[in-house]
Amino acid sequence: MITLASATIYDVARRAGVSPATVSRVLNGNHRVSPELRQRVLEAARALNYAPNYSARSLSSQRTATLGLLLPDIANPFFAEIARGVEDAAAEAGYTLLIGSTDGDPLREQHYVASLQAGRVDGILFAGANLGAPLLEGWLVRGVAVGLVDRLVDEDDVPVDAVLTDNVEGGALAVRHLLNLGHTRLAVVTGPQRVRTARDRLVGAHQAAAERGVSLDPDLIIEGNFKESGGYQAARILFSRPNPPTAIFAQNDMMALGVLRYLEEAGIRVPDEVALIGFDDIAFAALSRPALTTIAQPKYEMGRLAAQLLVERLADSQQAPRRLVLQPRLVLRQTTVVHREA
Ligand code: RIB
Repeated sequence: MITLASATIYDVARRAGVSPATVSRVLNGNHRVSPELRQRVLEAARALNYAPNYSARSLSSQRTATLGLLLPDIANPFFAEIARGVEDAAAEAGYTLLIGSTDGDPLREQHYVASLQAGRVDGILFAGANLGAPLLEGWLVRGVAVGLVDRLVDEDDVPVDAVLTDNVEGGALAVRHLLNLGHTRLAVVTGPQRVRTARDRLVGAHQAAAERGVSLDPDLIIEGNFKESGGYQAARILFSRPNPPTAIFAQNDMMALGVLRYLEEAGIRVPDEVALIGFDDIAFAALSRPALTTIAQPKYEMGRLAAQLLVERLADSQQAPRRLVLQPRLVLRQTTVVHREA
């Protein structure tokens, strides 16, 4: 019987015309490799079906019935609800779950993946990760089973399962609502612009304004950090200027709660003087006073679906990548009402 020896890193290097060290750098997602060299290495690895010692095959032969879930900020209730959905779907499929919080730090993400890959999990879900395509492609080509929740990598063509909300539509829903109430001086407190969901929500916000033949004032677009502190600081900037906004779209509920805290300390009445809308619909949104109008994401369902896709991929690693885009929903509460310009 003739058995084909599996390709080695040297075979990949020879085929790509690079050194074995370059192959290793590409497959470990090192950003210091030129896109042209990276592409040559990835094509050579795929052509040779390269799968080093910790490939899906070795992972599958060492099945642990455990999945890994990496989150940027476990203190943010948004990710806690995602994790709940992942855990329930994993348990129903007979998997236990290891959860890590990475603060969105790529190095911490790499560290976690390296330790998880040491045979302790069968597959890894990234929720809210800011992964670069090189890192992800390096794992995919090595046969590591991964999936994305909430955020895509910037390059749309990376062949990976993903479950997310239509963030462009969500941003448009928020601004349409404020415009429908009669507001014309709208501020947007964005998440970090390096994060795909923050950029997409801002695209939607601009689209909604353009639908009405108006444009957002760039001086009223403040970059936050998706944390309560970022909302508070952004509100302080906006209300330290002449001619402050009459409405604010905060791109997640944690920042909206920070805006609310600042306005309350400043004695500015919500919604009579300033309307406020958030994004996510975490449990605190309904509990805040006044209760927060927001754009709801199907958080628990996102987690469940992402775990189901990963479990199905572990059963059939050859299936084509799937991207599920779920719909956001406007949830009306007390922080937005009709506005009549003074
Ligand atoms: O609250 C955290 C934010 O970052 C959410 O809006 C979620 O979509 C993630 O992108």
